[in-house]
Parts: sequence; structure tokens; C-alpha cells
Amino acid sequence: MEDRIFTETILRWYAENGRDLPWRRTRDPYAVWLSEIILQQTRIVQGQAYWERFMQRFPNVESLAAASEDEVLRLWQGLGYYSRARNLLAAARQIVAIGHFPDTVDELRSLKGVGEYTAAAVGSIAFGLPVAVVDGNVYRVLSRYFGISTPVNTPAAKKEFSRLAQALLPEDCPADFNQGIMDFGALQCTPASPDCYACPLMAGCNARKTGRVGMLPVKKQTSPVRERFFCYVYLRFQGQTALRRRPAGDIWQGLWEPLLYELGPGKDSEAFLSAKELPGTVTPLRKGIRHQLTHQTLFADLFLWEPVRAPELPEGYVLIPEIELDRYAKPRLVEILTDTIPDEA
Ligand code: ADE
Repeated sequence: MEDRIFTETILRWYAENGRDLPWRRTRDPYAVWLSEIILQQTRIVQGQAYWERFMQRFPNVESLAAASEDEVLRLWQGLGYYSRARNLLAAARQIVAIGHFPDTVDELRSLKGVGEYTAAAVGSIAFGLPVAVVDGNVYRVLSRYFGISTPVNTPAAKKEFSRLAQALLPEDCPADFNQGIMDFGALQCTPASPDCYACPLMAGCNARKTGRVGMLPVKKQTSPVRERFFCYVYLRFQGQTALRRRPAGDIWQGLWEPLLYELGPGKDSEAFLSAKELPGTVTPLRKGIRHQLTHQTLFADLFLWEPVRAPELPEGYVLIPEIELDRYAKPRLVEILTDTIPDEA
């Protein structure tokens, strides 16, 4: 469906209201790609600081490709979804091996961590390719304006909304349209309280006319998230602590964490630890910290364990000097917990 009013209104709105972001002042594909990977699961305000740090430390794809995974993970720390950081590094090495920055959608898609959305975003913004992006903002704006109630988290919706976005895309300025519709969704047609009274699309908006702004987009109910109970024990022995690198096959692969006992639901961590009879003193520091991941809710307790003699460590753990703790890339939850560890008395 073509709708020139929609397209022209988005372009005009973007020219007047688009956000002034540093990666919009360049067409360097590396800078654009980096911004899109960071923004995949991160809000712009938070993402911008990370983008600036990455650009400073790794100003081009060659410098990033030469980095160690540990350094990239450390710089990424706090952003979550660490597979993005690992893929970022792997893709940088792919690009260096290819010998030029990929400039077609197919080539972009061959990069680790680059899916349909990111290929369209980088392709249109850095290379002017006429491909429409479809992200959460696009689903929301289109479902409201065109009154589409197909549940957005289904394959059918992906097809329907991609086709529509593609039909609306002006071939001569795909970058402005794509970024315009995303900004419009982020600033004007927001999820909870869209600013309909000041909306330049109000006259043609189906949801507005039919009183369904609050009902669109439609989301199909998904399975409930899994709950897990983590009992972390921070060891302190002669200025050293114990960490392990998390293995593959679970959350946080490759990141570091203190001694972990995963408990069944309803188990009391204090009772669990006292039954273990760890030699020395065990002090509870934090209880019931809740941490939300996409498909899991974690509940964590933290204890300080000060053994009287050299401790026996479970497999996989190593002793490291406590003053070097900052050098290890840790999941956000572990950061939150270890930030509260008191200095040695
Ligand atoms: N979210 C992710 N990438 C974006 C972009 N380029 N413009 C607006 N919002 C975005």
C-alpha cells in the first residue's frame, strides 16, 4: 500500500524533530554499524556513551578486529546481552578478512550478529540502499496508523509489516525515512502515552479514528519467563577471591562470577549454606536482588565467606587478587552485587 501522505509527513517531521546523534553526522559504515549493534537492546541515552567509548578506543574496524575478546567484553560491561559484544568482535574480523566494508544487504547479513533489521539499518543509513527497517517502533507506528491488529510477535506480522514499510519507503532517501519512523515511534507515537494532540499524522490515523490507540499494537501472549535462584558467595582469603568463567550453554557465556550455588525455588540460601558448613565465617550481604533478563527472572543473594584456611574450590574456579577484580568482565547482576562488598577490615 502506498501512502504518500504518511511518507511525506514522516520525512517532514524527521527534518524538524529528528534526534541529533553523533553517528548521524557520519556515513562511516563502521560507526553506523557499531551504533546499530549497541542500540539493538539498549536505549539511545545509555547507548550513546558506549558508542563514544568504543569509537575512542577502536576508531576503525581494523583496531576493533585486533582487540582481545576480554577487552571488548570489558568495554561492553553494563550493556547486557553479551553475545552482541562477542559477535561484534567476530564480525570486525570477518570484515577485515573480506577486505572492505560489506555494502549489500546479503553481504551485511553474512556478518555475525547482523540480522534483517541491522542489515537494513546499516545498508540504508551508510550506503543509501532502499531497504525498510522493521523494529518495535515501526510495528507500533504502522499498526496504529493503518489499524493493523495482526499480533506483532508472529511470523505473519513480520511479513505484513515488512511489506508495508517497504512500500512506504521513498527510494531516494531511505536513511531519513527509516530513522524518521523510528524516532517518530520513540518520541511521538510512544507505547504508553502517545502525544496524539500534537501529532502530524492524526488526520489519517486509523487507531485514532476508531479509538484503538491504547489497544495497538497487539501482542500475542507468550510463555512465562523462567525463574532462577542464585546464591553467590564472595570468597575473601588473604586478599584473594575466587572467580570462574561461565561456560557455554547458559546465560553470560564467557563472563566471570564468584562462587555460585543455584538453588531450587523456595530454598533458603542461609539454611543451604549453613548445611554446607563452610569453614570460617559466612556473612549475608544482600538478599532477594531481582534481575530481569529477556526470558529469565533471576533472584540473587550474596554472602561473604572468610575461610580460616586455604579453601577448597569447586571445579573451574581460580583465585585472583581482589584488587584485580575490576579487570574481569562480569554480568551486570554480579557487578551490582560485588559493588557492595565491604573493603577488608
Ligand atoms: N534505534 C536503533 N537504531 C536507530 C536509529 N538509527 N534511529 C533511531 N532509532 C534507532
